[in-house]
Amino acid sequence: MDKKSIDWENLGFGYIETEKRFVSNYRNGVWDEGGLTGEATVTISECAGVLQYAQTIFEGLKAYTTEKGETVIFRPDLNAERMEQSALRLEMPVYPKDRFVDAVVRTVRANNAYVPPYGTGATLYVRPYMFGSSAVIGVKPAEEYQFRVFTTPVGPYFKGGARPLTIKVSDFDRAAPNGTGHIKAGLNYAMSLHAIVTAHKEGFDENMYLDPRTRTKVEETGGANFLFVTKDKKVVVPKSSSILPSITRRSLVYVAKEYLGLEVEEREVLFDEVKDFAEAGLCGTAAVISPVGKIVNHGEEICIPSGMADMGPVTKELYDTLTGIQMGRIEAPDGWIKVVE
Ligand code: PLP
Ligand code: COI
Repeated sequence: MDKKSIDWENLGFGYIETEKRFVSNYRNGVWDEGGLTGEATVTISECAGVLQYAQTIFEGLKAYTTEKGETVIFRPDLNAERMEQSALRLEMPVYPKDRFVDAVVRTVRANNAYVPPYGTGATLYVRPYMFGSSAVIGVKPAEEYQFRVFTTPVGPYFKGGARPLTIKVSDFDRAAPNGTGHIKAGLNYAMSLHAIVTAHKEGFDENMYLDPRTRTKVEETGGANFLFVTKDKKVVVPKSSSILPSITRRSLVYVAKEYLGLEVEEREVLFDEVKDFAEAGLCGTAAVISPVGKIVNHGEEICIPSGMADMGPVTKELYDTLTGIQMGRIEAPDGWIKVVE
C-alpha cells in the first residue's frame, strides 16, 4: 500500500484523522461482532454515562515500520490486559483480550498508509477506548458501552524531540491513595489538566506528582512513569499502587536486566533521593524515553548530572535497545512483536 504524503519528519503529537476505525457496541449484556467504519464521529445520548459521570477508559500503543518494511505492533496483549483492569475498576464490561488484539491489528492494517515509513522518527499511535454510551442520571454504571480503536500518525510527545526536560514538582495530586491512579481512566487525565496548564504557563515541560498519602515519594508524571539511574549505573523505577503500570517501563526493566546486564531496583523512591541520581527520564508509549535534565521544587532546582544537552549514557542505551527492538533492528523477546500481515 502506498504511504500517504505527510511530512513525517515534522509531525508533532496531535490528532490526524485516518481512514478507518473499529467500533463494537455492548447491549443486553453482550458485545456485538463489531467492525471497521469510515465514520469518525460518535453519536450518543446527551445523558450518556461518559458525558455525565466520566465513565471512560483508554489505552495507547504504537505501530511501527521495521527496518525490513513490515508493520508491527508492540505488545498489544499487555494493553488488552491493562484495559481489562481499568474496565473492572470502573464497573464496565471487559472487551475480551483476543478480540482487543484483533481489533487493533485490523485497525492498523486498514490504516497502513498512515504508518510512518522506517527512519522518519514518526509512528502510528493507536488509541483503543471504551465509554458508557447509554443514559444514566442516578450515579451508577451505564448499561450500554462502545469500544472503539482509532489511529493517528505522531511524532515526539515533547516539542523538540529528545531534549532534556524541565519538570515541576506539582502541588496537585494526580491520584488518591485508594483511588484510580493505577488504571487508565479518562478521569485521571481530567484531574491533571489544571496542573499541566499551570506548569506550562510557568515554563515547565511536565509535572512530577508525589504520592498522595505522604507527599514524600516520587509517583509519575501526567503521561509517563519515571526512570532513574544511580551513579553506579543501577536502574531505579518507582513502585506504587497509585501509578499506571507502564508497559514501556516494564519492557525497559526487562531490557535493562536481560539485554544490558544492568541491576534494576523496583521500589519506593523518596523525593529526597532524587538529587543523588546520575540520570533521569520519563518512559511511556508517547514519551518513549524522554530525558529529564532538571527538577524544580518550589524554586529549589535539582540539576540532574547528565545535564540539559543530551540523554545520559545509560538512558541512551536503554532508548537505543528498546527502539531497536520496536523497529526490528534488535531481536525481540518472544511475544513482544505482533506483525500485521
Ligand atoms: N503513566 C501515565 C499516567 C500514562 O498516561 C502513560 C501512558 O500510557 C504511562 C504512564 C506509560 O504507560 P505505557 O508505557 O504503557 O504507555
Ligand atoms: C501514552 O503514552 O499512550 C499515553 O496515553 C500518554 C498520553 C498522555 C498521551
